[in-house]
Amino acid sequence: MVFVLLTLAGCGAPGWHESMAEETPPPLPVFDRAQIRRGQMLAALGDCSSCHSSRDGPPFAGGVPVPTPFGTVYGTNITPEPQTGIGKWSEAAFRRALRDGVSRDGHLLYPAFPYNHFTHLSDDDIRALYAFVMTRDPVQATAPANRLMFPLQFRPLLAGWNMLYLKKGPIQQQGAQSAEWSRGAYLVESVGHCAACHSPRTALGGEKKDAYLDGGDAEGWHATALNEKSPSPVPWTVDSLTTYLRTGIVTEHAMAAGPMQGVVHNFAQADPADLRAMAVYITSRMDPPDAARQAREASARKKAAQESLAAVQPSSPAPAADEAALTLGGVVYANSCAECHDLGRQLSSGTALRLPLAIALHLPDPRNLIHIVRRGILPADGEAGRWMPPFEGSLTDEQLAALVVWLRRQGTDAPPWNDVLKTVKESGNAP
Ligand code: HEC
Ligand code: HEC
Ligand code: HEC
Repeated sequence: MVFVLLTLAGCGAPGWHESMAEETPPPLPVFDRAQIRRGQMLAALGDCSSCHSSRDGPPFAGGVPVPTPFGTVYGTNITPEPQTGIGKWSEAAFRRALRDGVSRDGHLLYPAFPYNHFTHLSDDDIRALYAFVMTRDPVQATAPANRLMFPLQFRPLLAGWNMLYLKKGPIQQQGAQSAEWSRGAYLVESVGHCAACHSPRTALGGEKKDAYLDGGDAEGWHATALNEKSPSPVPWTVDSLTTYLRTGIVTEHAMAAGPMQGVVHNFAQADPADLRAMAVYITSRMDPPDAARQAREASARKKAAQESLAAVQPSSPAPAADEAALTLGGVVYANSCAECHDLGRQLSSGTALRLPLAIALHLPDPRNLIHIVRRGILPADGEAGRWMPPFEGSLTDEQLAALVVWLRRQGTDAPPWNDVLKTVKESGNAP
């Protein structure tokens, strides 16, 4: 199926491009300091290190597994090492990789590398990124071979994907907007590649353009809708979203977790004005909250004001099938969570938010909540910061599922999630 579609779509598009000559990069002084610094801030926005720097290895030396629905692709070595890195790449070859998804020797690159977004970068910004990567320490390292479903090892098939999903050229200006909004739109759609995780994808792994930022998947997590469908109980403002992107934590919204934690961690190196511009653009896509969203906020705040979540009166009667789970869930909450999350308790944690305000309870499926309870939210290695303890190993699957069912009912007015125990069991194996 995938094969047939890609082959059909690819008819006429080249599956291989000409090789570009190797080049000895210009000696360092050619890049000026300001340019390298700008490249560094763009690389932070582009999250390059999440896919190109392994946890324990040297920066940008590659070897990072990038999971996709079709298998695992490894981020490559993009240090200026001549044999195993990109030390012999001209700026033109680097530009072609970011714009067209073609490697220097001519082979097509997998869209796990988000070139369908980087394609919109300006010449100046690509030059700055080039200046930044070419001035890193060269490291000799070769990424492991990709592990992909048959027949996707065959790279020329990607020509079909490119025909369908690679739309080159600068992003289109939409009407008369402020300079800050336009800057935000440019960054979100190009280097920031937010839609790579926050938009749903087709069976072929392309982003659905008619569902832009409607919410998507990333490594077994749900990446929240960032448009008028935003499920956040407290609507985002430019200020709160800027703070979230800068620090990963905002009172009343909680804390970045899962794949978003690495993204935000990198944003700490970005230009604060750029983060604000992105927040201006994203909040404009969320629209002013309509009556339904206002009602959701009011209800969440009312529940959050109760001394204990157990005291909340749920909005509808419990389905008979859920009664046993709800009783168990309430006990688990009282024993494991109340000490930090109930009003006025906070014995050990300073300020943990009231859970009716936590986005994880309001999502279309319970995966994020399950991951957060299992793994907690731990600060990056060696960093101080607030943290949520992991419960992996101290709750059984049944207890965790019961807790999740109970939290959804006590904390929100949303319909119950289906098959929670099944999701708990399946997501135990997530990466
Ligand atoms: C979501 C993961 C991801 C992010 C983010 C990402 N890359 Fe990559 N990149 C990859 C993967 C995976 C490959 C290898 C693709 C393949 O083997 O076909 C790659 C390949 C490349 C290549 C081609 C290398 C070669 O030898 O062919 C360059 C250049 C590159 N990335 C630069 C960047 C830069 C610069 C950034 C940040 C602005 C970035 N990447 C961000 C995953 C990523
Ligand atoms: C690698 C995938 C990935 C990328 C890239 C990414 N996000 Fe996320 N994002 C997630 C996931 C997964 C979550 C849900 C987990 C959480 O809430 O911490 C999330 C959560 C968020 C939230 C919190 C949503 C809410 O209502 O609570 C915001 C805001 C956000 N992302 C903004 C952005 C913006 C802006 C960009 C681009 C600059 C971006 N993200 C890029 C994966 C990603
Ligand atoms: C030792 C204190 C502590 C305990 C115990 C604890 N938490 Fe947390 N939790 C935190 C802190 C701190 C945060 C993050 C700070 C914030 O968002 O205010 C947090 C955040 C969260 C979030 C929000 C994450 C997000 O990004 O949306 C959820 C959901 C959550 N906890 C659920 C639970 C559940 C369920 C339990 C019981 C199994 C629990 N917590 C037990 C301290 C705790």
